[in-house]
Amino acid sequence: MRILGIDTSCDDTAVALLKVGNSKFEILSNIVSSQVKIHQKYGGVYPFLAKREHQKNLPIVLKSAIKGYKFSNIDLIGVTVGPGLEPCLWQGINFAKEIARKHKKPLIPVNHIEAHILANFINRSSTAIKFPAVALVVSGGHTQLVLIKKIGQYKLIGETRDDAAGECFDKVARILDLGYPGGPAIAAQAAKFKKDKNYTGVELLYSLPRPMIKQKNYDFSFSGLKTAVLYKVKEKKYNKKAMAAEVQQAIIDVLIYKTLKAVKDYKVKSVLLGGGVAANDELRKQFRKKTKIFVPPKNLCTDNAAMVAATCYFHRKERKKLEGIKADANFRIKNL
Ligand code: KG4
Ligand code: ZN
Repeated sequence: MRILGIDTSCDDTAVALLKVGNSKFEILSNIVSSQVKIHQKYGGVYPFLAKREHQKNLPIVLKSAIKGYKFSNIDLIGVTVGPGLEPCLWQGINFAKEIARKHKKPLIPVNHIEAHILANFINRSSTAIKFPAVALVVSGGHTQLVLIKKIGQYKLIGETRDDAAGECFDKVARILDLGYPGGPAIAAQAAKFKKDKNYTGVELLYSLPRPMIKQKNYDFSFSGLKTAVLYKVKEKKYNKKAMAAEVQQAIIDVLIYKTLKAVKDYKVKSVLLGGGVAANDELRKQFRKKTKIFVPPKNLCTDNAAMVAATCYFHRKERKKLEGIKADANFRIKNL
């Protein structure tokens, strides 16, 4: 079976073609057209500009994703319907509907958060991941802990009460004048700092807060961390690299602590990571020191459409009429 995936939930125009045989996924193409250069000057994503870019890019990205393949050999189309930026989501949905109508293919609506979780099933034996599992989804818009009874059966056990982890990276990078997207920029500065100082991981120069770490729940809060950085910067007593290393460490400490708490309390058998922040080397390394984790390769952590096609496969029987497929900017995983 061949599945076409489409994602335009934020600022990446993504189309991928996935081959599925014996529940194993093989990526035939995975094209992502980034708009980073366009949004850089705004320090974040500007939705209506992103929508216009998606409209321009979708036919080009589709063409390169299906190069060498015929539509007659594609069985199914999956498209992200939420959560995400509404004008951007509609662009992908309407484009997917057009193709589905023209080529008479079924179209399956996909939840972007579930797709970040199920990216872990690409290029891996489907029996490697044991249930119940817990997934930490850390992206630009979301920070969620999801208990997975089995694929398709989820319970949202914790989430951020304000900013997402990725949003915190992005906002701190803006304060430190490091550019957009902030995650990779902060990670690069932090790596330089560690190299310079032969950093061991325990030396905490600025002692930023670890928000909500002491609370007996699985929720997060990152806006205070950003404010704490802002105060240090206003005092003008800071070193950019050290601050980057410390903010990254504060985010990592909270993410690992809360995830391990869920592992213990729910007696889970597998830990899954997903979302753009899961591409962070230090997060991956420090998690691995504490527990076995499943985490996709970096290009499947950040937004992509291969994960959408994989999720479409698991929901392939949930067919809907095209008119009933709509954008849902706040699509919650617990509704699945
Ligand atoms: O999942 P994603 O590509 O898009 C959303 O669904 O939001 O996540 C984007 C977020 C951004 O906030 C970006 O700064 C962050 O992921 N990110 C990282 C890294 N790469 C991307 N954060 C920390 N370290 C990274 N290496
Ligand atoms: Zn995402």
